[in-house]
Amino acid sequence: MDKQQKLEEIAKEIAATKGGPMESFGSNPVPGEGNPDSEVLFIGEAPGFHENQQRRPFVGVSGQLLRKTMAANGFNEKDVFITNIVKFRPPENRDPTPQEIEYFRPFLDEQIEVIDPKFIVTLGRYSMYKFLGQGASITRIHGQPRTIKWNGKTRIIFPMFHPAAALRDPHVMQTFKDDFAKLKELVDKHEATQKTEAKEEKKDSEQLKLV
Ligand code: URA
Repeated sequence: MDKQQKLEEIAKEIAATKGGPMESFGSNPVPGEGNPDSEVLFIGEAPGFHENQQRRPFVGVSGQLLRKTMAANGFNEKDVFITNIVKFRPPENRDPTPQEIEYFRPFLDEQIEVIDPKFIVTLGRYSMYKFLGQGASITRIHGQPRTIKWNGKTRIIFPMFHPAAALRDPHVMQTFKDDFAKLKELVDKHEATQKTEAKEEKKDSEQLKLV
């Protein structure tokens, strides 16, 4: 099975839960979307009204800001992967409960395992807590990459404010945009290093052939 097929399987498993602890709210599954080979995974909180209707993550007002800022910084939304901590819409857009977060954790962990991204961008508190612990303060650590070992793999966690917070406060909006520019710089640097390494490896193997 390739990555795309594996992600489709996970999406089917998510749909089959019918929402698990949220089943009685009757919302739709929103498993996430994007490039299965992406080096960058964005993780938000939970689907809202529009996400629930369209079964796609980040397509409402905050989503538009996220996607617009992505594009403004040279990211193609088709090249990244976007998902949420919780895969169904909580009623009245309330915060997800610890029980709901725990229920959907294995699905998100499987998605991370399959996509195997170098960068995980956490949007808002809940996804930041997942990787950096409940004591982390978004105001203090936003825009600062942290290298962690996650299920045996080295990953770079890049905490950002949630776009909804940026929409509420012009200062946060500026920070949100500045952090995106920092993220792009980091990702570009990583890709450049990888290209150089691949070239060196190719040179080495060609030299070996000549020996
Ligand atoms: N907010 C989120 O955290 N996720 C979405 O998909 C939409 C809004």
